Amino acid sequence: MNLNKKIFLDKKKLSVDKFLDKVLYNKTYGYYSTKNPFGRNGDFITSPNISFLFNEIIAIWIITEWKKLRKPKKINLIELGPGNGLMSLTILKTLKRFPELANSINYFLFEKSNYLKKLQKKNLKNYDVKWIENFKKLKKFPSIFFGNEFFDALPIKQFIKKDNFVYEKFFELDKKSNIQANFYKINKDQLKLFNNYQCLTNKKFIEFPDQGFKELEKMTRVIKKNSGGILLIDYGYDRDFDTFTLQSVIKHKKNSILKNLGKADITYLVNFRLIKEFFGKQKLNVSKIETQGDFLRKYGIEHRAEIISKKMSFKSKADLYFRLKRLISPEFMGKHFKVIYACANN
Ligand SMILES: C[S@@+](CC[C@H](N)C(=O)[O-])C[C@H]1O[C@@H](n2cnc3c(N)ncnc32)[C@H](O)[C@@H]1O
Repeated sequence: MNLNKKIFLDKKKLSVDKFLDKVLYNKTYGYYSTKNPFGRNGDFITSPNISFLFNEIIAIWIITEWKKLRKPKKINLIELGPGNGLMSLTILKTLKRFPELANSINYFLFEKSNYLKKLQKKNLKNYDVKWIENFKKLKKFPSIFFGNEFFDALPIKQFIKKDNFVYEKFFELDKKSNIQANFYKINKDQLKLFNNYQCLTNKKFIEFPDQGFKELEKMTRVIKKNSGGILLIDYGYDRDFDTFTLQSVIKHKKNSILKNLGKADITYLVNFRLIKEFFGKQKLNVSKIETQGDFLRKYGIEHRAEIISKKMSFKSKADLYFRLKRLISPEFMGKHFKVIYACANN
């Protein structure tokens, strides 16, 4: 059976989030269930795979937060969407050098893809990590959640406002089994989903991370009870932006959304103002939205590169600085990637 028919086997029409859930995470044909997307031979590269320096800085950030929490005897660290596990590998290696913290950690990975879980198990075989599906099962210790490019991988809903009505975007099959996009008017109840978000009021194009917010709500419940916080790093914007941003990539090149389904990654640009508003509504303390460049500099990435590079050959040093530039320069990932942190008031 052709893939288009498989996608619409049990539903005639699928809202954008339901459609994305299938093409990205279906257990047999979903993108994340069938391939390793990272690196030169994959489709895209992420900061943890550009340089271990990025991961070390996340470790340093964790140490800082642990100190702010007054060095609890036990702490849960949970990486969200750990990909190939390399970020956690560096974090765990780095934290070993801080025995007081290292001995207090319960380390968890929150991962949906069984394919990537296997890869994580392989890469982290020498470390004491557990996979978690339900945050209610976390022991009642302060908990720090952190994820790089986790939020932009969670399916979103798309709406459009026209002549005082709001329409939701759906995909469906035409008679020739081609996928078509159509918009359907939503009712007052459905409007409640996003109507009270100020940053969306004057928008014509609305992308709403319904699934993402449901996940964040579960984390919020944990940190409100046990203290801790949530760090998100993603490609996104914090200004007025009124357009749909869903995008697809394959082999490091742009791809049309409906082409190469199951073989191409589909993400969107995260609306950081919306996340900030969400955290505010959850009554969390929210940091200002920072660029990745500022965040990494603040926690000493340049200084760290200087120290490490002292003993390096010219070639390795050049490579290290080239990678550092990709992470922090405004013309690369330094400006377009943003960081937000929300923590409990306790
Ligand atoms: C774009 S990748 C980022 C991977 C890694 N953090 C990195 O920066 O290289 C998104 C990750 O989130 C995972 N993921 C997506 N949706 C998820 C969900 N609902 N629950 C847990 N993990 C999820 C994916 O399988 C993948 O590991």
